[in-house]
This record gives sequence, C-alpha cells and structure tokens, in this order.
Amino acid sequence: MPVMELSPRIHPLGNVCMADDRNQNAYAASRIVQHYAQLGMLQPAEKTVLDRLHDRLPGMKMLDIGVGGGRTTKHFAAIVADYIGIDYSAAMIAACQKRFADSAQTALFEVCDARDLSRFQDDSFDFILFSFNGIDYVSHVDRLKVFAEINRVGKPGGYFCFSSHNLQGFEQAFAVRKQLSINPFKMYVNLVMVALLRSFNRSITSKQLAAAAHIVVKDESHHFRLRTYYVRPQEQLNQLKANFGTVEVYGWQSGLNITGERELIANVDLWLYYLCVIA
Ligand SMILES: C[S@@+](CC[C@H](N)C(=O)[O-])C[C@H]1O[C@@H](n2cnc3c(N)ncnc32)[C@H](O)[C@@H]1O
Repeated sequence: MPVMELSPRIHPLGNVCMADDRNQNAYAASRIVQHYAQLGMLQPAEKTVLDRLHDRLPGMKMLDIGVGGGRTTKHFAAIVADYIGIDYSAAMIAACQKRFADSAQTALFEVCDARDLSRFQDDSFDFILFSFNGIDYVSHVDRLKVFAEINRVGKPGGYFCFSSHNLQGFEQAFAVRKQLSINPFKMYVNLVMVALLRSFNRSITSKQLAAAAHIVVKDESHHFRLRTYYVRPQEQLNQLKANFGTVEVYGWQSGLNITGERELIANVDLWLYYLCVIA
C-alpha cells in the first residue's frame, strides 16, 4: 500500500521539518499549555493498561514521554518505583513542575525531545508511555527513529504504551456520506466539521486517503493548528515489528482489546492505544 506525507507545493522533506517546528511551537503556546495542565482523567484505554500492569508497576522505572501538563503523572508517579516525565516543550515541563511542586509524589521532569534520548542509557526503563497521540507530531522518519530509541532505552521484556491517530477514523470523518443522520442537528454539526476538514486539507482527496497507509493532515485539535500523523492500524503493527514483540491494541474510548484482524481493519476509532512488549 503506498504511503503519503502530503506536502503541497513544497519539497516533502522540507515540509516535514517545517511541520515539526510548527507543532513544537504550538505546544509552547500558553493557551495550549494551560489546556493540558488542567487535564486530569485517564482515558479508558489507559485505565485498562494501568489495571493490566498494576501488580508490576511498583517495581517499574517509568519514562513518560510527551508528559504535557502532567495528566498521566497524577496516576502513575505514586505507584511506580521511579518516574521521569519528559517533553520537548519547556513550557509544558514548567507547568508540570508547578503542578506537582507540593505533591508527595516523587516525579522528575526534564525538557527532552523523544527523537534524541541519548541522555538515557540502554535498558533504563521498564515502562515507557507516550500517551494521547504525542508521537503523531513528528515526521514519519522521526517516528521510526523514536520507536528505535524507545527500544534502546527500554528493558527487553518491559512495556511501551502509546496511542496514535487512526487513518480509518479520519477517512470516516472526511466522507460526506458518512455524516448523514436522522437527527438534523447532529447532521448539521457533522457536515460543518467535514466542510472544515476539507477546507484545511484542500490537497487531499478521498481517493488518496483510501490509498494511503499513513498521512499527515490538519485536524480540528487546537483549531487546525497542528500537522498530525494518521496511520492504519495494520501499518502501525508493521512499523512496530522491528523493535517490539507482542502488541495489543485497545480502543481509546471502549478500553477494550481489539483482537481480530477483521475487527482492526474495520475499526474507525479516531485513535487507538498500543501496548507493546519491548524486544
Ligand atoms: C497531545 S499532547 C499530550 C500531553 C499529555 N501526554 C496528556 O496526555 O495530556 C502531546 C504532548 O507531546 C509532546 N511532544 C510531541 N512531540 C514530542 C517530542 N518529539 N518529544 C517530546 N515531547 C513531544 C507535546 O509537547 C505535548 O506536550
């Protein structure tokens, strides 16, 4: 299946770099930092993973990548043996330091880009989390580099959990005929959203989406400011093969394990969680 990183009128690699910088700038913006600093609840799939690893977490050294405003810190730092939260946005890290300054939880926060984890030695962590689609804001090439780095700093047999946007969900959101509903208000809202998606992604056609294994688009998060990577779940599993063993997939909203290939190919959740055993 062909892969696409759409980059209208600009050399693909040039555009990828610029898109990365724009995403990083967006995550430094005070309104966006404030948004993440007030989030507190785990998503259902994260709750499933926490329950699944619960007995082992007290012995684990955890790296929380793209920690944002510390939403996940609240739930993990007090349970694990050792906790470090990193983010490439200095403003996010400052927000975490402020949020947990008086907390009994011992959490360390550092400014660090997931694409360069060289400050951490090989086999340092038992559990690595990159939650809420943080990995979707780097280019395809950098994404593969991040997976390799996570394999290096993670202990063999340890766990890596992350979520990523589902291209099948985007395809559904982009298709006008999928927005028809007997509820006129719902249909109106859906159609407005399709119109916005299409106007912010003018160079993309439904045919291109259907042919792509992964693609970079602008979606509605933070008012279409971010360039976001969407991937088909099957392609995601392929990308993980080089660095991880068993991989379990969870619906972000249902928190349920998606086991069958057919179920995965038909899934239209906007994002999915992957729990991977580090090879
Ligand atoms: C969607 S937010 C999620 C924040 C937080 N994990 C949460 O769940 O609330 C994505 C976060 O990943 C961070 N991020 C994106 N790319 C990164 C990278 N290459 N290295 C480190 N952090 C990154 C962003 O700065 C942002 O804080």
